[in-house]
Amino acid sequence: MFLDTGIRIIDASWFILPAYFANSLPVNVSKIKELEWMGKPIDGNRKLLGHRILGDGKTWRGLFFGVAGGTIAGFIQQNTHLKAMLFLRSILHEPQLTLPHMSVELAFILSLGALLGDMVASFIKRQSSLKRGHPAPLLDQLDFVLGAVLASWFLLGEIDYPRFYVLIFITPAIHVLGNIMAWALKMKKKPW
Ligand code: CTP
Ligand code: MG
Repeated sequence: MFLDTGIRIIDASWFILPAYFANSLPVNVSKIKELEWMGKPIDGNRKLLGHRILGDGKTWRGLFFGVAGGTIAGFIQQNTHLKAMLFLRSILHEPQLTLPHMSVELAFILSLGALLGDMVASFIKRQSSLKRGHPAPLLDQLDFVLGAVLASWFLLGEIDYPRFYVLIFITPAIHVLGNIMAWALKMKKKPW
């Protein structure tokens, strides 16, 4: 039972990995001084119904490096698929374990979908009068997963619902655990 859950989590994580990279790279590249010139807001400072369309937190730099990074992650996954699978089989003693197929096309679509989902969430936040960076619990954590899975639907022609539910469940959990770990390592002031 435990192992079955574990295998489902591994399967879902392997599938969504490009989207995780796409979602976490923009904030890291935003700290690189040399790339500041690429940090123009995607909405060009435009407003809709009195609110910024997306806000200053959604830049061309983030979109470019997020999609590029996520696609590269998928390329690496494609080329290490068998090795990773055999490794997991041996350490978990699960000879039946398989990893979902990853391709560069799928990684690109997942990454683009992740960042479009993130942009849709910012649009909703701005229209709800929430300033850039203001927390919107669950929306902030799940926007990119929803975007990525929806986009993958166009390429794959189907949504693997059991995998999707696992992702909806583990993503906020990973977020909470990650923040607690960063706090424990004194990389963050608050554990949330
Ligand atoms: N980022 C970016 N371009 C993107 C997405 C993110 O440059 N397309 C960078 C921005 O520096 C942003 C940071 O990553 O501040 C964190 O992203 P996110 O939490 O999604 O943005 P917020 O600043 O919280 O803004 P919002 O309220 O719109 O979510
Ligand atoms: Mg945010």
